Amino acid sequence: MAFSLIETIAFRNLDDKKVNIDSSSIFIVGENGQGKTNFLDAVYTLCYGSSFRQGNDSSSARLGDRAWCVKGNNKEGYKCVVSWKDGSKSITENEKTVYDRKTLVERNPAIVFCHEDMEFARGEPERRRFFFDQTASLVSASYIDLLRLYRRALKARNMALKEKSMDILDVLDLQIAIYGIGLCEERLKMAAAFDQVFAPRFEEVARLGTRISLEYKPSWKNLDSAEEIAKNLGASREKELILGTSLSGPHRDRFVFTDDNGDFSGRASTGQLRLLSLTLRIAQAEYYSASTGRYPTLLLDDVLLELDPDKKQRFMSLLPKHEQAFFTFLPGEPFGNYKSRYTLVYWADNGRFLPA
Ligand SMILES: Nc1ncnc2c1ncn2[C@@H]1O[C@H](COP(=O)(O)OP(=O)(O)OP(=O)(O)O)[C@@H](O)[C@H]1O
Ligand SMILES: [Mg+2]
Repeated sequence: MAFSLIETIAFRNLDDKKVNIDSSSIFIVGENGQGKTNFLDAVYTLCYGSSFRQGNDSSSARLGDRAWCVKGNNKEGYKCVVSWKDGSKSITENEKTVYDRKTLVERNPAIVFCHEDMEFARGEPERRRFFFDQTASLVSASYIDLLRLYRRALKARNMALKEKSMDILDVLDLQIAIYGIGLCEERLKMAAAFDQVFAPRFEEVARLGTRISLEYKPSWKNLDSAEEIAKNLGASREKELILGTSLSGPHRDRFVFTDDNGDFSGRASTGQLRLLSLTLRIAQAEYYSASTGRYPTLLLDDVLLELDPDKKQRFMSLLPKHEQAFFTFLPGEPFGNYKSRYTLVYWADNGRFLPA
């Protein structure tokens, strides 16, 4: 679903104004620190009910303020309002309260491409688990439930290991095994389907002449049955009791990018890692659309900066189908090359957005 108008009140450094966004492509151009990313964050807040920037809801309030509000309309009469005041947040759609943010996400998911995504390509395994959990969660509410159950059981098990509560460990081993095996099965399916989308896209834009594949490496090698896993957990309990933590399970799963010579990320160049992280987002959007039949909103924050001119053009031509896309650019970038006659271009100037 595309928005046609957005209004922010006391949201970060943005002016309290309405901005026309009635187009499938919106470019925000401006110097550093003018509010480009904050603008994308306001759109994201309409899609998710929270910010994609670090911090909590109070960080979105303009410095010194204790409240903020973002409103969005579309041409079909849909209206969404997300507001926060003194620690409490309210979300409404067409004046009706939204109790679970899942409703918003299902209606209008946004996929953000930003600098921090580099961590999915070169960072710790935890960052890739985060990315793939997010990917699976976008298309499956039951995955979100499974993840919550597993995390809860894991927390309880780690606590029991620390406190040496032997009486409940058998029960928790079985719980971990049941929820964990469910997660692993979902991840196996997702990784195979994701790889089919990701690998050809990466080759199209990076042109390395070799296939870079996504490989899912579960921490549990034997996924035959929950009972078997629980039995293995029991067998390795001694070491876990000493360390006070669970040493195996989906929280230790790894996702790696490989070619014929093994791990690719470790020896990739900065530009290749940037492309890898961008392609992950492209594939995430395509995977979402293939699974749900719907198209996301794309928020692309300074994504072209580290790419050479050829790759910039190729990346732009590979953008996945979307309802609406927002891009930020610095003034020196050749954004004119990428716009169509429908693109709305704004100059960001100290929280104001002036039509170019
Ligand atoms: N809660 C807030 N209240 C007031 N100002 C804020 C708040 N949060 C961030 N800012 C300010 O907003 C300004 C714009 O930030 P933003 O990250 O949107 O800039 P940008 O145009 O994306 O810049 P860059 O090109 O460097 O990425 C910064 O000066 C920042 O300090
Ligand atoms: Mg920015």
